[in-house]
Amino acid sequence: MGRLFGRSDVRDEPRHVSIAQAGKKFVAPGKDSILNEALAAGVAFPHSCTVGTCGTCKAKLLSGKVREITDSAIALSSEELRDGYILACQSIARRSLELDVAGMADLPDHPLKHLGAVVAAQTMLTHDIVQMTIELDDPLEFTAGQYVELKFDEFSGPRSYSFADAPSRCDGRTLSFFVRHVPGGEFTDWLFGGDRSGERLTVTGPLGNLWLRPSDAPVLCVAGGSGLAPIKAILEDAMDARTARSVVLVFGARQQRDLYCQEQLDALAKGWNGTFDYQLVLSEEPPNSTWTGPRGLVTDVVAALPMEFLQSCEVYTCGPPVMIDALEEAVMSVRSGSGFFHADRFVTRRGGSG
Ligand code: FES
Repeated sequence: MGRLFGRSDVRDEPRHVSIAQAGKKFVAPGKDSILNEALAAGVAFPHSCTVGTCGTCKAKLLSGKVREITDSAIALSSEELRDGYILACQSIARRSLELDVAGMADLPDHPLKHLGAVVAAQTMLTHDIVQMTIELDDPLEFTAGQYVELKFDEFSGPRSYSFADAPSRCDGRTLSFFVRHVPGGEFTDWLFGGDRSGERLTVTGPLGNLWLRPSDAPVLCVAGGSGLAPIKAILEDAMDARTARSVVLVFGARQQRDLYCQEQLDALAKGWNGTFDYQLVLSEEPPNSTWTGPRGLVTDVVAALPMEFLQSCEVYTCGPPVMIDALEEAVMSVRSGSGFFHADRFVTRRGGSG
């Protein structure tokens, strides 16, 4: 009997989640994942896949108790499990909690908003990438490199896309995103199937922790496919701020027909207030084509960069996880330390579901 009363007391007590080092605290009723309850409370908790595979939402449980929705071991190492780490997207609060969330104290302090919007335009950039422009009902503050979740009523779950615009070049209301067609994906099949101007959607954000950290260190930017959006936004924002850091930009695509935004990248190279080296590399270009630039993977180009640069640069990258994993391995093979590699992986829900 005593145990039953005890359970009832625990179920009824108001629960809070505190993220001490970030000065954040929110009510967690324990009816949904910690991640979803954080987002509902307006806390921009770091996340990506939302299904327990990427590890972006991992947090160290300092006090309290959680119930796991699925086995978190998929995305957590045995060392992290031993040290008390949990996945916020796969855990439900059973008590008030205190969490340590790496990097959260450094997140840009923009309010997380849920806004209505309408599709304003679609412009084809390549045969399978479209620039989708939306018009928000109210302006949104964000930092170059971040992303939002876009939710159309017709489709289950939101889709995440990075801002392709620098905040310094837009009014925070008319915003563009690069969307790649994933054949068989319900959302992108629909988007590429006709003119969607006038369609309503809901926007949640800003989210993500890919942004240019203040420093004098040289910068290595690596983008793959539609992952050029946040990299372009970061560099355009930095150029507008007259940043004088040395930059190497590597943009990887499959073939010449997959290249886009060349005018904007040329303008960055010409207008940058310092050294700006810009290289395109194609992985599947036919051998007898007119292409005279490098062929291969972005890691081939990166491996040929001067060792002094690789050992001192900050890395900013966005694209397929396989590209980012290979890049991280290549960079880590020539240097040690942490805090210099900043990535936005398109995983599962983030574009993978189309
Ligand atoms: Fe939770 Fe990816 S593991 S967001």
